[in-house]
Amino acid sequence: MNDLLKGKKGIIFGALNDKSIAWQVALKCHEQGAQFVLTNAPIAMRMGEINKLAETCNNAKIIACDVSKNEDMENLITQSLEILGGKVDFILHSVGMSLNIRKGRTYTDLDYKWTHETYDISSVSLHRLLQTCYKMDAISEWGSVVALTYIAAQRVFPDYSEMADSKALLESIGRSFGYHYGKSKKVRINTISQSPTKTTAGSGVKGFGDFFDYAAALSPLGNANAEACADYCVVMFSDLTRMVTMQNLFHDGGFSNTGFSQDVFSLMQNKGE
Ligand SMILES: NC(=O)c1ccc[n+]([C@@H]2O[C@H](COP(=O)([O-])OP(=O)(O)OC[C@H]3O[C@@H](n4cnc5c(N)ncnc54)[C@H](O)[C@@H]3O)[C@@H](O)[C@H]2O)c1
Repeated sequence: MNDLLKGKKGIIFGALNDKSIAWQVALKCHEQGAQFVLTNAPIAMRMGEINKLAETCNNAKIIACDVSKNEDMENLITQSLEILGGKVDFILHSVGMSLNIRKGRTYTDLDYKWTHETYDISSVSLHRLLQTCYKMDAISEWGSVVALTYIAAQRVFPDYSEMADSKALLESIGRSFGYHYGKSKKVRINTISQSPTKTTAGSGVKGFGDFFDYAAALSPLGNANAEACADYCVVMFSDLTRMVTMQNLFHDGGFSNTGFSQDVFSLMQNKGE
């Protein structure tokens, strides 16, 4: 299917390198005819990788934005509306960071200053984004916002630490703001709960390789990769899903509804040997 996003304008957060889920989303949105602005934290831009993505995507403009800063968010939205020549139709929030995980602090020994930073960057940023857009009336009617999340918001994955609480908050903000934005402007807001994916953020979690293998063995379809997640995002940005809002949508090869699989049993036996 082609041109699913023809004529649509958007903002894509979080493409750090070609492993990033947001990177794949940008490629697919471009392929489907969308025009968009790319954004990431100023510090992430220094690596320069995002310039290559922008070139591939019809020389998309790049605007720096630390999602924990109001002034950065306001500047991003103002500039995006100017560059794109009007309101946006879709936004991808693909942002996550935990200093406690990065610095090896366990869930029972959290540094609360870092915890607040995690919440601010990884979940309150979705509220900041939506509130800024709401006040500036920056999203078209039937526009679609997607934020990426993980099943640790519902089930315990011990090493996911305070990111689990952060994702629970992110999903709740998606629902709550989805009500208000839906009522007043018919804007839809959903979260996509993605399989473990080999990216910079994903691989930073202790034991990632083990729960990647476990999820692959439990899920009847195996783990969903970043490209498949990008396909799902495109559908959620398209007019084909115009009545879907305030949902947490599992994109995980069936992991979330599976209790046991022979493949998991075999994996455990092999690891035990
Ligand atoms: N990789 C996985 O296993 C997995 C699974 C489910 C959900 N997710 C979610 O997908 C999203 C994207 O992560 P990814 O796996 O593609 O990894 P990634 O490391 O490529 O992307 C994370 C992005 O967050 C950005 N970021 C961090 N702090 C920021 C700030 N202050 N301001 C602006 N941007 C900031 C980083 O620069 C980076 O681009 C995250 O929300 C993550 O939690 C990932």
